[in-house]
Parts: sequence; structure tokens; C-alpha cells
Amino acid sequence: MNQLPQIRYEATSRTFHLMNEKISYLMKVEELGKLIHLHFGQRVPHREDFDHLFIVKPHAMYSSVVEWNNAYSYEAIRQEFPDFGGSDTRVAAVKLRQENGSSMTDFRYQDHRIFAGKKTLPGLPASYVEEDAEAQTLEIDLFDELLGVTATLSYTIFRDQGAIARHVRLKNDGSQTLFVEKLASLSMDLADADYEWLQFSGSWGRERHIKERHLQQGSQSISSRRGNSSHNHNPSVVLKRVGTDERQGEVLATTFVYSGNFLMEAEVDTFDVTRLQVGIHPDGFCWQLAPGADFQAPEALLFFSADGLNGMSRECHSLLQTRVAKGYWRDRPRPILLNNWEATYFDFTEEKLLAIAKTAKDVGVELFVLDDGWFGERTNDRAGLGDWAANLARLPEGIAGLSEKVEALGLKFGLWFEPEMVNKDSELFRKHPDWIIATPQRPTSHYRHQYVLDYSRPEVVEAIHQQMAEIFRTSKIAYVKWDMNRSISEAFSAGLPSQQQGEVYHRYILGVYELYRRLTEEFPEILFESCSSGGGRFDAGILHYAPQGWTSDNSDAISRLKIQYGTSMIYPVSAIGAHVSIVPNHQVQRVTPLSTRSNVAMFGTFGYELDLNELTAEELTEVKQQISFVKAKRETLQQGRFYRLLSPFAGNHTAWMSVAADGNEAVIGYYQVLQEADAPLTWLRLQGLEPDSWYQLAGERYSGAELMQIGVSTTLPSDILPEERSDRDFASKLWVLKKV
Ligand code: DGJ
Repeated sequence: MNQLPQIRYEATSRTFHLMNEKISYLMKVEELGKLIHLHFGQRVPHREDFDHLFIVKPHAMYSSVVEWNNAYSYEAIRQEFPDFGGSDTRVAAVKLRQENGSSMTDFRYQDHRIFAGKKTLPGLPASYVEEDAEAQTLEIDLFDELLGVTATLSYTIFRDQGAIARHVRLKNDGSQTLFVEKLASLSMDLADADYEWLQFSGSWGRERHIKERHLQQGSQSISSRRGNSSHNHNPSVVLKRVGTDERQGEVLATTFVYSGNFLMEAEVDTFDVTRLQVGIHPDGFCWQLAPGADFQAPEALLFFSADGLNGMSRECHSLLQTRVAKGYWRDRPRPILLNNWEATYFDFTEEKLLAIAKTAKDVGVELFVLDDGWFGERTNDRAGLGDWAANLARLPEGIAGLSEKVEALGLKFGLWFEPEMVNKDSELFRKHPDWIIATPQRPTSHYRHQYVLDYSRPEVVEAIHQQMAEIFRTSKIAYVKWDMNRSISEAFSAGLPSQQQGEVYHRYILGVYELYRRLTEEFPEILFESCSSGGGRFDAGILHYAPQGWTSDNSDAISRLKIQYGTSMIYPVSAIGAHVSIVPNHQVQRVTPLSTRSNVAMFGTFGYELDLNELTAEELTEVKQQISFVKAKRETLQQGRFYRLLSPFAGNHTAWMSVAADGNEAVIGYYQVLQEADAPLTWLRLQGLEPDSWYQLAGERYSGAELMQIGVSTTLPSDILPEERSDRDFASKLWVLKKV
């Protein structure tokens, strides 16, 4: 029987070894009780001690903590939970402000526990197990004797993924009120700095572009202080060894299971030790920890693969898709939807919506989604947010009536909400002007004429819950798009005392999670899609409740190549919302073939975002073909193994593929940006196949080994629409591979 995963503790050397078939994580407790990092990466055989890895080299100007020993500085030691204010002047994992003004701590080993399975995190999203045999957890208590505070570091190793889940909890058993100024969920000192740092950054409409640099002495970081995880930086970082590519090489990755302000930092010290940290951003954060209270930091996930970036993504996708996302829709093929936003914007009547829905049904769409503009006084973006009841002037029979009419057409019905926002021109604001986040006596900024509801206050969450639940109870709602269209500024809550104003950002996101938790538990069969002006809150935290997210407001197929390629580094295809929209595209004005728009979108949770009644009969026939193809292949596309083959960041062509979970078929997408005169003959090397199996592709038989090592000619005709011209700008091809 497989004994892994396993956590072993060697009492004599005080060594912890977490291992599964792929990875090892090694730590030890040193003489004075500090927790030392020894290794995270490929699995190594167990031994009673790894003390030879623990070498303290003396360095000039490093302050020693042992009298008469000049060498023993914590600055020269690789740690798991570095204190603030002591002999280690690198970035600390924890800062606790005390009554005397000091923020210094001194946490030392006190106790540990090893158990099968994994606990939940109160109030926070996290990875989970379905049975205890899937994981083992180690909790290590570090104690600051002077303060009477325990820091419990939690490490879970999973059986099936090269992954470790980490988090930290503080418990104040002392007598003074403390203030948590910083608490990293993960801190780890890597032995060297020979890594390339990859981040997924950009802006609205250009989310998760891959940016790469070599680690250098000093700090490199990504962060958000916007209240959401943001379009600007996704809360994920990859560190890869030089020379690593999609197919081979060592890769370490981390992603934060959190949707608010964050900081991910790699500090390379004078001697090339890399301190990697993930946590809530300390700016704008200060948590009051009274005697007897505790504070739980969110979870950070760590991944390792020796099989290149695709190998690392496999580990991430597997864990995020099956053990972070949860609920009814987790493993189910996602409905093909039509969303009316780009079709009508605010300019719709019930008649117009039903006409679009009717055609959608005719071509095979399964779910009709009504976007913004259906509630309160909302006919433009200046009014209505906060009043979640139908505008009867536009929808005479309300949402209940409309949803029934859509169901009568044979479609499911979905609805847009922006539950965290309010317009000043709304009933809710007129009744509760103090329910917005605003700093007294300072101007309050808005974006898109909207203000942020103060979700740190339970009564605000309760009021919005009541409104949403009422609609869910009285109408036929199969899907909800949960939008969030601005960042938080002037953070201050009228509901909190002065010494707790540093808690607003975190309490806000806890309020969001609480509303998500209640609604997903009460209405488990509603499919939630998260959205934040597109991809502004695309993170593992929100994925826990909403198994898919609107990836970007930019629906242009060519822009989407980079966005979806970058997103796929961490997130599975089943999380990546992707729609076919009209041309010229509304965000970039580009005109791309209908086939390419669909060939890109089908490597995501597929849908349409246009008025089908504006398409020609020929185009509608093509849409029908696209939909029946996606219906036949969506399990392979969404639940299969995804591999990136050619990067849009590297050249004119992009390619990727999804291999069915049972390995019997694969779908390959190949995309060209610009047509070149007299272009070279190119070969596409596939991945994820069985070398000794045989596959049928475009009427020919090939071995898996040949397809992966030699490749297929990109001149092969496309499987789906053979008549489509491939010698033009923005052309694309799709191939289906079947095991024979
Ligand atoms: C931003 C979203 O990303 C869009 O898809 C759309 O829902 C609009 N908001 C509606 O206001």
C-alpha cells in the first residue's frame, strides 16, 4: 500500500520531513529553538538527520545571538518564520507592536502535531481534502515567551500533487493588547538566487501578461493595495531555474488563496539566499490582538515540479480545480452561455432580450445571462447599484417573469450582480449613507460613479444577502455573475473604533467571503462566475466559491492569446471564462475570423457575448458547428490536462492543447497573429501523450513519441472548418487527436 504522503519527525535531530512521491520539504529546529528551512523541491530519501545541510558561516557585520560565538547570527540562517527586530535584518515574517512600542518578537519551537487530513480555515477559503488519506498536516507551535503569543505554522502535504499548503495562526495568551502589523502566510529561505522570477501582471484588458527577470540582490515584489487582488498583479509567482522551459526544468510556484491586498516578495540577501514571502500586504493592515484573541492568516500554496512550466501548471491546475474550487459545478461540464453585455450594454427591453435568447436556443446555447442594467433605476452607470430588485419599467414581470420566459425557451437563466457596490443615486444609499467606505472629513473618490459598501460590517453583508437570496428564491436562477468594478480607497469604516481601522481591508474581504459562503451553501446548484471588470479578482480565494471567473473584459481573440496563456500558468481551463464577441472588437477594434474567436474561447468556459440576431445565416451555421463541437469536447477541454506549446510572448504563433483525462483524445489549438510572405515550414511538438500509444490525426497514424519528439507540420488542414483560410492574419487551426 502506498504510504505517502508522509510527514516524519526525527526527535534526536529535531528534523521534519514532509514527502510525497514528487516532493520533499525539510526543516529542523536548531539549538535555540528557531525553525530552520533546509529544502523544498524534488523528493530526497529520508534520513535521521540532515544536519550537514545546516551550516552557519560567519560573515562580517552580522550580529551574533550567542555570547562568545561570533558566527551565530540569524541573518546567516535560513528560517521559516523570521522575527522582526533581532539579529536578522532581512524582511521579517511577523511584526507585533507591543504596549511599550517595540515590534520585536522572538518565536521559538514549543510543540508540534502531525495528523492525517487537513483542517478548514475559519472564515477563509482554503484547499481541502475529501478524505484524510489525501493529505498529512504538520502544525508547529512557536512561542514568544515574553509576549505569551503562540504562532502555529501549518504545513499540509497532498498525496496527489507536488504541493504544500501553508498558513499561520497567532494566539495571544499574554496580558497585553498587541497589534499585528505584519504576518506572512509563507516565508521560506531558498539556498540561492539562481532563479528567474515570473509574474503575471498588466492592467485592465491586459491581465496576467508574463513578465520575467532574474532575481537580483535586493527585493523584488508584486502587490496589491487596491482591496482586490487586482488586474495589475495576480497573486502568484513562479521561480524557475535558468534554462527551464515549458517542457523541462525545475520550477517552484506559489499562489495566494486570498482576494484582497497582498504582498509577494523575494529578498535576495548579500550572500544570495532568497527569502520568499507571501502574505496580506502590511500597508493598510494592523490587526488588534487582545488577550485571548487569535488571528488567522490566509493560506498560501506552494508547488514544485521538475518537469518544466507545464509540469508545474499540472500540479497547480490539479489542486486548484479539484481541491480549492468546490461545489456542485466543480467537476461538471460548464454550460455554454450567451451574455447580453456586449450585445446591448444598457440598451435593452425584455422583447430584445428574448429575441436574442430565442436565437441562442436555436444555435444550441444552454444558458442566457442578463448582465448589468436590470435593477433599480439603472439605465446607465450612474444609478441603481445597491437596489437589487428588477426595474419594472424595463422588465414588466420582473426577474421571476423573465427567468420563466427564458426557461420556457429551453434555456437556463443567469443574472449579473455587483453586490459590493452602491451608487449615491439609490434607495440603499439614501437610507444608509454611512454604509460606504469613506474616511471622515476627507473627499471620497469614486470610479464609474460608484462607492464601495462597507463589507467589514455584518449588517451590510446581511442586507445584501437578503436582497440577493430573495431573488434566488423567487426566480429561476441557474447562474450568477458577481462583478466588482472598482478598487477600495479612503479605507475607513464607520462601524469600527479607531484602534481597529487597520482591519478594514481584511474585514472587507472576510465579509465578501461570508456572503459567498452563505449564498453558495443556501443555493448550491447556482453556478457562480466571479468578475471584477474582467480579471481584477482572479485568484484562488475567489475560486473556492466561484469555480469560473471572467478572465478579462478584453474579448479580442488575439489579445486573449496572451491573457489566457498567462492565466493558464496557474489557473485551470475550467476557471477561465472566455467568450466569442462581435467584430470589430469593442475593446481593440480588431477584426478577426469567427473561427479564431471560437478556437481561442473554447480553451475556457465557453460562451458568446454578442447579438446573434446581427449575424448572417452563414455565421449562425458556423456558430452552431462551434457549439456542437464544444459540447462534444468540453470534458476534454475543461477537465483534461492542459499544455502550452508555443508562447504568444515569444513569437507570431501560439499553440496549446488539452488531453482528455483518460488520455484517449486531445484537442490542439494553433493560432497565427500576422501572415508572413513565404513563411517557413514549422513543426509543432505536442505534449502529454503516451509515447508508445498510437494516435490518429488528420487521417494519419502517429506514435505519441513521434508527435512529442518530432511533431506535426502546421500545414495540416484544420479539423473543424477545413474551408477556413489559414494564410491570413489572425488565422487559427484546431486539430483533434484520437488514440487508436
Ligand atoms: C464589468 C464586467 O467585466 C463586464 O463584463 C460587464 O459585466 C460590466 N462590468 C457591466 O457593468
